[in-house]
Amino acid sequence: RTVYVNGEYVPENEAKISVFDRGFLMADGVYEVTSVLEGKLVDFDGHAKRLERSLKELDMAAPVTTDELLAIHRELIARNDLTEGGIYLQITRGAPADRDFAFPDPAETPSSLVLFTQQKNLANAPAANTGIKVISIEDIRWGRRDIKTVQLLYPSMGKMMAKKAGADDAWMVEDGQVTEGTSNNAYIVKGGKIITRQLSNDILHGITRAAVLRLAKEAQMEVEERGFTIEEAQDADEAFVTSATTFVQPVVQIDDATIGTGTPGPIAKRLREIYIDESL
Ligand code: PDD
Repeated sequence: RTVYVNGEYVPENEAKISVFDRGFLMADGVYEVTSVLEGKLVDFDGHAKRLERSLKELDMAAPVTTDELLAIHRELIARNDLTEGGIYLQITRGAPADRDFAFPDPAETPSSLVLFTQQKNLANAPAANTGIKVISIEDIRWGRRDIKTVQLLYPSMGKMMAKKAGADDAWMVEDGQVTEGTSNNAYIVKGGKIITRQLSNDILHGITRAAVLRLAKEAQMEVEERGFTIEEAQDADEAFVTSATTFVQPVVQIDDATIGTGTPGPIAKRLREIYIDESL
């Protein structure tokens, strides 16, 4: 693979970042994952806007313009012959001379920019046909989940708890209500109505979520943005998750309860089709 690091395209085993980089020492950084279908970026503008917002919320400077970012994404797709998969982008607050809790002066310490490609089957992912199993876990993450930071230790632990329990992923619960999945937004369907938690600092404002809700409304489906409990979800007709790497992915089991018939439901399937059609 050819990867991008601070202005250069290099083979992945030659890419270098300082040991003093605050991304490495303090998880002081933000990221985006943009999917690629048939060699084309899906909703680059949405990801670029959210990135801009994440940077602003953390008082971090963008190392390049949005146009330059787009050009780097395209260059990486070309250099790696990427037809389907994703592009991971990370901006960290750079490498000051020494470890220090205070932010360094951006004039002296430019932020670091890293991008790499990941080849993956997205449109024909097997889990789309079988659905996934999730467990519920407590959400003990920090209070600014709307910022897409690289602090992913708890979501990784959640994924491991799920694996250990024989499941695929975890839905996190705070004050009795589901916030989101470890790396996706969570939905249930009841009586034809699509229910997903409202936007706030408690969840990531998914780019796929925005697109799927827009498409659902365009297809005359009813959408309600509100929180829901695990019990309500277990009693729902359908459940699913969305993210740039999974699109719309059906959920067929939550803890010990089978959802609907235990197979992907019609609304999740239809939304997945509409979303992929629109993205091609
Ligand atoms: N994760 N919620 C969380 C906590 C996420 O990490 C993600 C994305 C989403 C969905 O956002 P979007 O639709 O913009 O991808 C929701 C990415 C894919 C990841 O960490 O790999």
